[in-house]
Amino acid sequence: MSITQTVTQTVPTGTPRLSHFVRASTTPLQPTGALDKYEHFEYTPVIGREYKNVQLSDLLKADNADELIRELAIIISQRNVVFFRNQDITLEEQQLLGNKLGILSGRPKESGLHIHPTDNQPVDLPAEIHTITSEKDRVKEYKSILDISEFSGREWHSDITFEPVPSDFAILKVHTLPENGGDTLWSSGYEAYDRLSPAYAKYLEGLTALHDGTKFATGAAATGKTLFAGVRGNPANVGLELKAVHPVIRTNPVTGWKGLFVNRNFTKRILELTKDESDATLEYLHRVVTENHDMQVRFRWQKNDVAIWANSSTIHNVTRDYDEKREGYRVVSLGEKPYFDPASRSRREALGLKKRLWASG
Ligand SMILES: [Fe+2]
Repeated sequence: MSITQTVTQTVPTGTPRLSHFVRASTTPLQPTGALDKYEHFEYTPVIGREYKNVQLSDLLKADNADELIRELAIIISQRNVVFFRNQDITLEEQQLLGNKLGILSGRPKESGLHIHPTDNQPVDLPAEIHTITSEKDRVKEYKSILDISEFSGREWHSDITFEPVPSDFAILKVHTLPENGGDTLWSSGYEAYDRLSPAYAKYLEGLTALHDGTKFATGAAATGKTLFAGVRGNPANVGLELKAVHPVIRTNPVTGWKGLFVNRNFTKRILELTKDESDATLEYLHRVVTENHDMQVRFRWQKNDVAIWANSSTIHNVTRDYDEKREGYRVVSLGEKPYFDPASRSRREALGLKKRLWASG
């Protein structure tokens, strides 16, 4: 089956077909080494990299800015999340970076920066800047309204997967922090795939799952707020259905690697299975992501640190262990309609690494 056919089959009802969300090319991108001269280290063998003594604003102003940002998009896509300490990047530059990461790594031309459906209140910021703040902590709002679990593990998610065209990259700069606490954790969708036995992975490939963000509408209705129903960064992301169907195993278009693409927060149902089979399968897959801390990285924020992550292959979670104010600005760029390419390889296959499974020796 071709990629185009796969995309067509997974288009949810009521959204445009194909024209607004297919990449011109699905050939994986190869790194050139353009960022190797900057000091950096890997957080774990699997996930996370930090660059030292680099300002993202300088990369954007460099003569070869496009080469550097394209390379950065590839590194983020390979390492899942990349950190930069104490950044002076402005909100305008943050938006520019979000667009450049997507454009230079080949996103569909109709995709831009996301406007979150809850961002409909008049503020002094562009709609494409999403304020992450403890001051309007929606989780507290929703917990009482929606009878949500008290377990912090319930919040593992990839950003906005309820959109037909979800995010490729997210850039978060945190400017206000509690004295301690508020760490963010990221888990690798690539490694989650590689932790599945070949037989189980094969069974999941080609399955599709419903991602549901209607809790935002429920919460808004209960609190007298309105949601933004206009176009949210791509013509396919419009209206307030806030539901989308995506492949359970997704090919990252930048790396060409397979990854698990379900998350505990938004993924509600595997459509080809019975409800009971779906519940059991999703619970197992969520456990793979959340209970294997050897595929996770935990980042302790300092003022003005920036994290950039690949939502297409990464699941993350905040740690709400603080009482003081915690606030930052997030830019979320949009990629393509997720697809599964049967010819794509896993990260460990592509890198020549053995799977870390007892059964495989
Ligand atoms: Fe998030």
